[in-house]
Parts: sequence; C-alpha cells; structure tokens
Amino acid sequence: MLLPMQSKFSESKPGAEWWRSAVIYQIYPRSFADGNGDGIGDIPGITSRLDALAELGIDAIWCSPLTKSPQKDAGYDVSDYRDIEPLFGTLGDFDELVQKAGERGIRIIMDLVPNHSSEEHIWFQEALASEPGSAARNRYMFRDGKGETGQLPPNNWESVFGGVAWTRITEKDGNPGQWYLHMFDKSQPDFNWENEEVKAEFDSVLRFWLDRGAAGFRIDVAHGLVKAEGLPDVVSNDTTMAGEDANKPADELTPHPFWGQEGVHEINRRWRKVLDEYDDRAMCAEAWVMPLSKMATWVRSDEYHQTFNFAFLETKWNRDKMKAVINESIAEFSNVGAPPTWVLSNHDVIRHTTRLSYDQVPKQGDGIGPDYAQPDEALGLKRGRAASAMMLGLPGGAYIYQGEELGLPEHTTLDGSVRQDPTYFRTNGERVGRDGCRVPIPWSATESAFGFSSTGNSWLPQPDAFSNYARSSQKGKPGSTLELYKSLLALRKDNELGHGSLEWKNDLVPQGAFAYKNGSVLVVVNFTNQPFALPDGELLITTQWGLETKGELEADQVAWISA
Ligand code: GLC
Ligand code: CA
Repeated sequence: MLLPMQSKFSESKPGAEWWRSAVIYQIYPRSFADGNGDGIGDIPGITSRLDALAELGIDAIWCSPLTKSPQKDAGYDVSDYRDIEPLFGTLGDFDELVQKAGERGIRIIMDLVPNHSSEEHIWFQEALASEPGSAARNRYMFRDGKGETGQLPPNNWESVFGGVAWTRITEKDGNPGQWYLHMFDKSQPDFNWENEEVKAEFDSVLRFWLDRGAAGFRIDVAHGLVKAEGLPDVVSNDTTMAGEDANKPADELTPHPFWGQEGVHEINRRWRKVLDEYDDRAMCAEAWVMPLSKMATWVRSDEYHQTFNFAFLETKWNRDKMKAVINESIAEFSNVGAPPTWVLSNHDVIRHTTRLSYDQVPKQGDGIGPDYAQPDEALGLKRGRAASAMMLGLPGGAYIYQGEELGLPEHTTLDGSVRQDPTYFRTNGERVGRDGCRVPIPWSATESAFGFSSTGNSWLPQPDAFSNYARSSQKGKPGSTLELYKSLLALRKDNELGHGSLEWKNDLVPQGAFAYKNGSVLVVVNFTNQPFALPDGELLITTQWGLETKGELEADQVAWISA
C-alpha cells in the first residue's frame, strides 16, 4: 500500500490546502484508456497514460466510481464499497495507480456514492429477504404503498432518470409487498440516512480509501441524502437534480422534499471530521443547490472543502450573465472562506464545446440525439476554448473533464441501439440521456478505436470526427486545443492564479466584451461579434490562431496579456 510520504506532493506541508487552487482532471474510467482490449477503459489503462496527464499539468485526478458495481449506471450503482470493479482491475491496480500518480505529483480522488447502493449490495439483498419493519429494511427507504391493497406508490416522487421513483417488491410469501425508494434507476435503492448503521458504514468506507492513499472524494448526489420528514409529495414537476428553482431568487424557492435538506449539513460535518483525521485530504460535493448563497453554505469551514459551481456551468455564453455569475460566486464563496470551484463539463452534461453554441440546450442530465437540431461544431469549439481560457484565469480551483483538453464535441448522433444511459430506457427514448459526453476518448488518429483500445473495441462507438481531435494530432502542434490547455495550466501555475483575486478592467475593452485582472495577468474575452484591438501588454497566450500578427481579438476569442 502506498504511504503518502512516498509521493512527490507530500513535500508540501501538511495542511497546505492544495485543493484551494488545484486543477483536477476528471477521468470517466470506462472511456479513458482500455488496458486489456475488452472495449472498456480500466485502471491499468489510466496508469499507462499518466505521463500525458503530467504533461498537461494537472494537480489531481478524480476517477468516477472504480468500486465494484453491476454497472447499471456506469458504476454509480455500487455493490461493494471496499473493492475495485473487476472490469477496471484490482485493489493492487488501484494501489499502483496511486503510487505512480504520486510519483508525478498527482493525487487520486475517489468517487463516493452514498445516496444509494446497487440492488446487488449485500444489505439490499438482506433487506429483500427480511420482514417489513426489520433492521435490514430500515437501512433503505421501504414504505407501504397507498391504496386499498398498497398498490400505489407511497408518494408522487419521480426518478431523475424518468418514471416513478418507487418499485414494489414481492415479499417472501410470494405476495406483492412494500415499495422501496430509488431517486435514480430501480437498480439503485436509496439508503436511509437517518439510520446509524448507514452513517457508521460510510465513515468506515471513507477511512478505507483514505488509508489506501486516496487524496479525498467527490461525493455523488450529496444534496439528496436526507429526505423531508414524512416524505411529502413534490409540488413542482421538475425532475432535474437542480429542481425547478435553479435560477430563482432565494425568497421565491418552493421547499423541496429531497434536494438540499438542512439535515444534510450534519452529514457534511461528520465526514469533514473523518477527513481531518488525515493530512491534506479534501472532499468535493456534487450538490445541485441553488442559489449560490445556499450552495456556499456547503463549504463552510467545517463542511466540504469544495462544491462544484453548477451555477457557472449552467450559464450561457453571454457577457452579462457570465460576469454576474463570476461576481456572485467569488462573493458568496469568499463569505465563508472557501475558494470557488469552476467547472464547465462532466459526465452528466453536454460537453461545453457543444453546449455553448447550442440554442435549445435540453434539461440537465439529458443529451442531444440524431433527430435533434445538430450543433455547429466549429462555433462550439471556438466558444468552448474561449470559455476554458476564461475559466482557467479565475482564482480558486477548477475541474477539467477528460477530452475537453482535446476540444472534444458531444457525440450527438449516437443510435438508440447503442445507448446505455438508464435515462434513455426509463423514458422510452424520449430523453436520450448522457452517453454523448461519455464516448471513449481518442489518443491516436491512426490506430483502431483511435488508440483507446488495442483491439478496436469500444463500449460506445466513436464518431469519425474524433480523428481530428486525437491527442497524437494535437501534441506539439501550436494552436491546438491540447497545447492551449497546457499553456493555460502552466501560466496559471507560474502566476499562482488559483490563489489570486479578480479585478474587473472593463474600461480597457469595448462594451459587450469583458476583461479581468488576476495578479499580473489580464484576461480579455470577446463576447461581441466584432474584433477589437488588444489592450497594451505582452501577449501570453490566446485561443486565436495568428492573433500576434493581426493584433485584433475576434469574436468568441480570449487573450491573456501580461499587464
Ligand atoms: C450523479 C452522477 C451520475 C449518476 C447519479 C446517480 O449525478 O454524477 O452520473 O447517474 O449521480 O448516482
Ligand atoms: Ca478494459
């Protein structure tokens, strides 16, 4: 097992709070690199590609779940929290990954899924085999149904993936029996977070991975653990994780019975105490909690270290809206002494290269299918790069989702027959789901499966266009998205922008554009549709090929200037 002192980053002092400024790279293990050719990415695949990530200049990797799982929701359905899924490798492979990443100064963050387990988890199997009202049932959310014979679900809650959030079981005597709650697929029963055994179990799971050298956790559906007393009906009919109130001011919010309950903060604090038993670990919440003033309460000093800034992620490519969300984020997070944590893409949303140029973005958790209006790939790439260059100049931490450093677009023409997201099946194809952002990434333009696997196997088909985005085609090529990211990350580190602060300099640019200064770096973003002359100063990096000779920053382009 890896002892944390063996790794390069431990040279930094304990308590150095590395996460405040870190750039963390999200790996979606199924789709990163396939080491054994079965078409599914795995841990040996990740380990073999660590040099590419070290070159990119990231500080840590967050891996989507690697734990044992029947993979009904790509690993977000865990059957054993203390083992590695055999498709991905072994505990030994995990230890090696932590070790080798550590040698390169890269930390490994695990994904913890505490809201629900897999139906194959031993506790759920025990619950099914036990009586209503038993201790085994009480670890999950079992209830009697409504109606004369209990034939109706206990309330009106809908699954995030579509359909009713309850499934009725057959009791041991062969009769229809109680219902269990699943906010996601029916293979993902929700835990009962009022139950002391559940709480103790997760403390122990945290320690298991911390002892093994994990740098911390990204915590799945962190805002959904506690349900309102009595499980009252939902008033709104919005089923996204943000709830329908995403953009409403705080005083207009409708109380919601399962998202963002006050009781969750107690769990946050409990986990923070566990992490604080160790040096230098961090946890980041997946909490779709709005508005930002509420989200910031998640990162008070005794709760999470970070929480994904989904308000920023959901903001359209619009100057005033971006400026407002940046201001509000910095203000709200600094109120509680926390850094903002910027993010544009992940495995649940349409890739930002596609999203920012697409007018009718479907609801969160949904994708674009072949029958939808098709996005403008070139405009998307331009804006995607610009948004990244805008984001990476900001103070705080940032997350990058695998493939965004290549400028990968969403796969928007996946056929129904290859789709795997439970959302697609639970809505009979009405919502195509999230597979389009989960396609295995291209390493080489000329190899089979674009270098993702040696056999050409790939669990989702890759679009032909991926050859243009392959890492091998971009590496060392000036102006490529990969080289852009490398330069942005290097400048960010050299200038300590993560620890910096933001000062608006909008008088330096025409109306409709914006400019901010962080330390000695001036970041200029052209949201207008007209080019304009750059403010004075040495050009450090730009998204615009040939800007040096042209001198004018075009629409949807960004320049970093030394000022
Ligand atoms: C989170 C994950 C998502 C998963 C869901 C249920 O939102 O990011 O991929 O489907 O939780 O675990
Ligand atoms: Ca594999």
